[in-house]
Amino acid sequence: MYVCLCEGVTDTQIRDAVYEGCCSYREVRGTLGIASQCGKCACLAKQVVRETIAEV
Ligand code: FES
Repeated sequence: MYVCLCEGVTDTQIRDAVYEGCCSYREVRGTLGIASQCGKCACLAKQVVRETIAEV
């Protein structure tokens, strides 16, 4: 599913970014450009990052 519509970023891309080495929301944000426009996705994006980090 799309998390960030402005940048067209899915939850899968966010998870992959964590698997590939991002270890914070800030790093994922820098890598994928999420929440850089309207910012509405920030809350959900943070949640996905947190959940994924907890899994790995
Ligand atoms: Fe992510 Fe707008 S939905 S910045």
